[in-house]
Amino acid sequence: MANIYLVGFMGVGKTATGRVVAGRLDRSFVDLDEAIEERMGLSIREIFEIQGEGAFREAESAELDRTALCADLVVATGGGAFSSPSNRGLMHRSGGVSIFIDPPWDVIFDRLRAGDANRPKWIDEHHARELYLARLPDYRRASIRIDPDGCEDPDVVAEKVCRALAEVPCAS
Ligand code: S3P
Repeated sequence: MANIYLVGFMGVGKTATGRVVAGRLDRSFVDLDEAIEERMGLSIREIFEIQGEGAFREAESAELDRTALCADLVVATGGGAFSSPSNRGLMHRSGGVSIFIDPPWDVIFDRLRAGDANRPKWIDEHHARELYLARLPDYRRASIRIDPDGCEDPDVVAEKVCRALAEVPCAS
């Protein structure tokens, strides 16, 4: 069956939701950032600092290519992955279903502010907001949009994802 790709900005809960969705659908789960860290033997922050964002983006696309060789995966992508037209093309050409997790900005900002030292793209609210607004049109190209609608609990969001997927014949 088609791979499921969770997309959206940093802090929307792609990883937590993805794990629950994978468990419910009995699929393997891949966190793209974790896969990159494992392959390169460096944290995301170290990759950005030592090799630069370009090298990170290349590694991200290569890792995504690998997912497209498999089926039945639930993949949590990094917040920038879906902004690359070739990454988007790959996800969709390979038959994958992309799901945009779309909580309001305030929720995202609260999560980012709570801090994760491994997020090099998080600088401050101004920069994050600009990046978010610039990326929104890309996220809106996803096959499905999920609005957590005030309940950010990964179990509840995952339930919404599974319900939406049930409408997509090749994904459920
Ligand atoms: C990035 C988001 C991160 C990670 C990297 C770059 C981005 O993933 O891929 O730090 O460009 O938004 P999360 O969305 O899981 O934080």
